[in-house]
Amino acid sequence: MKAKILDGKKIAKEIKEKLAGEIEALYNSSGIVPGLAVVIAGADDASLVYVDMKEKACTAVGMYSKSFRLPSTVTQSEILNIIDQLNHDEQIHGILIQLPLPEGIDEKVISNRIHPEKDIDGFHPVNNGKLFLGEDSLAPCTPLGIIELIKHTGIDISGKHAVVIGRSNIVGKPAGMLLLRENATVTLCHSKTKDLTSILKSADIIVSAAGIPNLVRGDMIKEDAIVIDAGTRVVDNKLVGDVNYNEAVMAASWITPVPGGVGPMTIAMLLQNTLKAALKK
Ligand code: GUN
Repeated sequence: MKAKILDGKKIAKEIKEKLAGEIEALYNSSGIVPGLAVVIAGADDASLVYVDMKEKACTAVGMYSKSFRLPSTVTQSEILNIIDQLNHDEQIHGILIQLPLPEGIDEKVISNRIHPEKDIDGFHPVNNGKLFLGEDSLAPCTPLGIIELIKHTGIDISGKHAVVIGRSNIVGKPAGMLLLRENATVTLCHSKTKDLTSILKSADIIVSAAGIPNLVRGDMIKEDAIVIDAGTRVVDNKLVGDVNYNEAVMAASWITPVPGGVGPMTIAMLLQNTLKAALKK
């Protein structure tokens, strides 16, 4: 084994400890307790577990958390009403609507109803636009966590060739924008990309968010590249990434495990975004 492990669990813990201190300082100076509202509707077990983790992380750092567990029969207008209330709730600085939502509910309409200043998921077009323009904004949590992990290596991102695989609005596209903001030369690959191998071969940083197990093999990785695996597929009840870990670990300089790499960072960034939203108040 050659690569060093980017331990997302440990790094996320350190970030959460730092946030807890900042939250306490905010309370001592202003009496404000950052508050996060989580809305989940007709969820499967995996989503419920994930939302529980988000709530526990919230209270562990000293934030206020409020949750709405709604049945799968909930209507779009009922969810919109809850968002309207939360948009005006002084105790709430961040609103998270767990996706996916039950069939028949338009996720775009729901996400767009959240006030951009409370959009700690960074899904609102106003925040997407600011990210595109390189302005300060609430950016999506998984890409923020990816940047933190890369910075943790101590290797300067500026001027590096970063290849992102996947063009989702939640991970791939915003990860590309954040890497660009760090002055990387960014290539965004997707399902129609021709000859992924030759592109990856020139990558100093690989961020894979395709959801295709074994997509990134060891012989596609340039010697000493940083490999961030943001793939999330459940196979035989186990979470698996996009990267063939056993092969990649022999070529890369740094690598994230799955689980325990990008996942824990997403929650830490959710808390960081909620504090950021509260500080803006
Ligand atoms: N479902 C899976 N990941 C996410 C996320 O980051 N935010 C929300 N709101 N829902 C999700």
